[in-house]
Amino acid sequence: MARHVVRTQVAIVGGGPAGLMLSHLLAREGIESTVVELRSRQEIAETVRAGILEHGTVNLLVDGGVSDRVLTDGDRHDGIELRFNGESHRIDFHDLVGESVWLYPQTDVFKDLAARREADGGDVRYGVTDTAIHDLDGDPRVWFTDVDGTEVELRAEFIVGADGSRSHCRGQIPEAHRKWYFHEYPFAWFGILAEAPRSSEELIYANSENGFALISQRTETVQRMYFQCDPGEDVNNWSDERIWETFRSRVNGNGFELKEGPVLDKTVLKFRSFVQAPMRHKKLFLAGDAAHTVPPTGAKGLNLAIADVRVLFEGLDSYYKTGSEALLDRYSSRALDRVWKAQHFSYWMTSMLHTPEGADDFARARQLGELNSVVSSRHGRAYLAEAYTGWPSAR
Ligand code: DHB
Repeated sequence: MARHVVRTQVAIVGGGPAGLMLSHLLAREGIESTVVELRSRQEIAETVRAGILEHGTVNLLVDGGVSDRVLTDGDRHDGIELRFNGESHRIDFHDLVGESVWLYPQTDVFKDLAARREADGGDVRYGVTDTAIHDLDGDPRVWFTDVDGTEVELRAEFIVGADGSRSHCRGQIPEAHRKWYFHEYPFAWFGILAEAPRSSEELIYANSENGFALISQRTETVQRMYFQCDPGEDVNNWSDERIWETFRSRVNGNGFELKEGPVLDKTVLKFRSFVQAPMRHKKLFLAGDAAHTVPPTGAKGLNLAIADVRVLFEGLDSYYKTGSEALLDRYSSRALDRVWKAQHFSYWMTSMLHTPEGADDFARARQLGELNSVVSSRHGRAYLAEAYTGWPSAR
């Protein structure tokens, strides 16, 4: 049976925040795209993800005309607390670098983007199967089966792989043309949603000899928190009491006490650092988790994906306006400039705050020396604040 042919300018594989944001920005400049996504819209909307947006990500959502909801429903945070040795040390982003971040869950970013694309009549196809990429050298095509069973051949000038950390697109770049960079960590995060009031107005990143914990928030009545655990941990072995006991031993003390409540959701999040470079091969561009993943400490994942998309959009827009691929040719190096800064920051925050199993006295005392050198110096705090709130884009 012949495939049903659909033509577009940019084929986007992956309908998460990166793919939808790119499709939205292109549409604003009159550039057509079709987005194909394996998961259903509901499945993506229900996946619990991180919750911190850099100011640059917020600006793109608001000034880019996606939604103002981040400003009304999100919470601006002007700093975080680093807690170690039983004491809290505030990193005042606003004072140090004049910037803030917003607590606004990634699932809401997705919902806003999906609603905007739908309202604007964007061609976004959720729940497709059997995606395959052909002819990256010539006339690129994406084959897929639509949700109603129709076999489609999507013909485009460019393909964008925004298909997440288990990217199919990434694998289309031949080994001889790419390099992989990996780093594994000997721990994971145990993440919970709990029904409880806020314990703190700002996020608390806590280092303790019993391991790391992160206190984040969601709403007045639901909180998001994480603690360092073994990557092989099974959530079924963790009762609410055991979970709270673990948090208490890592963050409570010196008058600070976590507010507890029923645990609504628990998951073990495994992580690693990964980069595939370059982020372009012929007519294929990779964006977001398809090209790189970072450990979650510092919440760079989504922000990095949106930063890739901004740079890729500039390249595509310039190509469609001038016919020149000069800016597209610089996509990979411009994006990787930020990717490696974020790789370093996420690695640094992770290693500075987590306690490796079996750490000796030297390792523990050195780590406290590192934390003290950051919080006791305005330059140290400013370095953290600049990275956390987000760097400007490379020219
Ligand atoms: C959240 C997740 C992070 O990885 C982080 O560094 C801060 C906040 C969150 O889910 O709220």
